[in-house]
Parts: sequence; C-alpha cells; structure tokens
Amino acid sequence: MTPALLSPPRLRELELPNRIVVSPMCQYSAVDGCATDWHLVHLGQYAVSGVGLTIIEATHVERRGRISRGCMGLYPDENEAALVRVVDFYRRHGNARLGVQMAHSGRKGSTRRPWERRGEPLPAGEETWPTVGPSALPFDEGWPQPAPLDAAGLATVRGAFVQATRRAARLGLELIEIHNAHGYLLHSFLSPLSNQRADAYGGSLANRMRFPLEAFDAVRAAWLAERPLGVRISATDWVDGGWTVEESGEFGRELKARGCDFITVSSGGGSPKQQVPVGEGYQLPLAAAVREAAGLPVMGVGMLFDPAHANRAIEEGQRDLAAIARGLLHDPHWAWRAAAALGGEMSHPPQYIRGYLSSWLREQRAGSSGA
Ligand SMILES: Cc1cc2nc3c(=O)[nH]c(=O)nc-3n(C[C@H](O)[C@H](O)[C@H](O)COP(=O)(O)O)c2cc1C
Repeated sequence: MTPALLSPPRLRELELPNRIVVSPMCQYSAVDGCATDWHLVHLGQYAVSGVGLTIIEATHVERRGRISRGCMGLYPDENEAALVRVVDFYRRHGNARLGVQMAHSGRKGSTRRPWERRGEPLPAGEETWPTVGPSALPFDEGWPQPAPLDAAGLATVRGAFVQATRRAARLGLELIEIHNAHGYLLHSFLSPLSNQRADAYGGSLANRMRFPLEAFDAVRAAWLAERPLGVRISATDWVDGGWTVEESGEFGRELKARGCDFITVSSGGGSPKQQVPVGEGYQLPLAAAVREAAGLPVMGVGMLFDPAHANRAIEEGQRDLAAIARGLLHDPHWAWRAAAALGGEMSHPPQYIRGYLSSWLREQRAGSSGA
C-alpha cells in the first residue's frame, strides 16, 4: 500500500505526485525583485528531487511590500520575465508542480538580509522605504513606524495582489499561497496586537478579518478557476491578547466559504513578545485544530524531519500535506530518503537513475546496458 505521505492529493484540477511540499523560503538573492541564477539553481534542484510541489518564496506584490532589498517581487514586467526560466525548468524536468507564495511585508519591511546583522531594519542613510500597516504601531523598538493604510491605500494593495495574480497565471504557475502569516501585512490586520483601528477594518473579529478576506476574494477572482488557492496563517501569536487558534478556525471557515482550497498552518512572527514552545512537530496540534474547525485540507509545517512522523501525521488526520523547509535545505533529496524509509516508490529524473537503486535494478533486469 502506498504510504499516506506518498499518495497523490488533488487540489481543484491540480494533481500532485505526492504530499511532500517545499515550504516557501526567502533567499534574499533577488535583484530589484527579479529572480537570479541563484533561484534557478535553488528552485531547480527541487524540481528533480521527488517532492510533489515547490512553493516559491514570499514574492511581494508591491515594491514597498518587500521585506529586504533581496526579496522577490511580481510587480513590474521584469519580475515576471525573470521567473520564466524557473517555470520552464519545472516544465521540462522532474514532475514536481510549481506554485508561488504571494506576500506583502507590511510593517516588517525595509530590513537588511538575515545574514546582514540578523535582518534588523535598514538604518537611515541606506536606501530605506516607508512601510504600511493597519495602525501606526512599529513591530518593535527601533523598527519603522508604518503608515496606516487608508481606503485608497487598501485599494492599492488589493489591486497589487490582483496584478501579481495575473502575472502568476500568465507565467503558468500552478498554485498560489497567500502569505497571511508571520506578522506581515495581512496577518497584522488579523491580530489585535498590531491592528488597533477604529473603522470597519479593526475591533471585532469580523472587522479584523475584513481586509485579508477582501484580498483573498480579489486574488480568487483574478486566479484561474481550475487552479488551487490557499492561505498560510499563523494560527496563534503565542502572546496573551493576540490572535488565537479559535479565531483561526473562524477565519478558516470564512476562507472555505470563499473558495479557499487549503490552509497552511504556521504560527507566530507577529510580536517580539511571543513565547513559542518549539519542538518536533510543535505546530501539528494547531494544524489539526484548524483542519477540524474549517473543514479544509491543511498543510502542516514546522520541525518535521522524520519521514515516519511526517507520514503518521497524515495517516492520523492532523494534516493533509507536509511542507518542509529546513529539512530540505539540509537534504534536498529528503523525499527520496522518505520513500526508501517508508517502503514507497518515488520518481526521479532519468539522469539520476543509477543513483536510485530499485529503478536501476529494474532497468538492468529489463536488459538496458547503460554506460
Ligand atoms: C531560509 C528560510 C526562509 C523562509 N522564508 C519563508 C517565506 O518566504 N515564507 C514563509 O511563509 N515562511 C518562510 N520560512 C518559514 C518556513 O517556510 C517554515 O514555515 C519554517 O522554517 C518551519 O518549517 P521547518 O521546520 O521545516 O523549517 C522560511 C524559513 C527559512 C529557513
């Protein structure tokens, strides 16, 4: 029997070869939002790694919505053109599908790269840019004060999500995940820690959800009907008085009613006061709770290095897909090793056939000689 982790799920018209997903990972290596050779090699390796889906890193819908100067974007034509090589590589090689995470940094923008003084805000004198948010509340001491978005500003951001979605469709990307987590713009509207507005976009849960849901509706309407659209959430702020798992369930139900196809359940990132109980699979109970409340497939993520554990979490209904970040940086062929450990089959490119024992032996038995 095929192990649960390796069984092919279907999201709308998109069938994935298995449930192993490359979680979006910022590479801070773009130039003016454009993918570079780094992206071709970094993302290209996963096309031929056996995973079912790669989600391209947080790709920002506006220039001022970048986290750092090295972040990817989908705002001018040049950004779209720069991704063509990556999309073509996926079309020609391997059988992983390719999606993108669409993002806006909000009040956590205008920072250095993580390896430049741990990603702290850019100092005055460097090429900084003004940030925006629900309220004029900086993320932390020393961070820029965001300008609260007014009605015109909200419309501009919604429009930017729509334009980026059209670009993603034109490129032939197969799935979109909206980044609604980790303290960036959309999450900052949900959380009472960052949203203290007195208008229709703040206060009650319905009001705090309003802008993220409007952004979702705008993307869903601009995206292709047959292609899946999901949302990454931080299921809790891990701070008293912050966004909660129960609210995440309610948000998930609203998303489902609007045509959302999956929720990726992450957590935290919205407040420097967070107390995160990090440990193996620590976000799985959150994923299970959101899955149950929302009635949607969930992508679990966070410290899942052991294939048996990753497989069990799907068998036991805690999640439907397994997004992996650091495990796949450490070992880009994690999926091959998972298949071997679980006793399942895994695809591989013909160039690598001699490295994949069972296929190689089958070829030998069938009489292929090979050099
Ligand atoms: C280098 C790096 C870059 C990341 N960039 C993103 C990103 O662009 N979008 C996002 O939602 N999460 C991002 N994350 C978080 C991961 O997608 C993932 O949720 C987190 O690392 C936990 O999974 P893991 O334990 O498998 O690494 C990043 C993580 C790493 C290590």
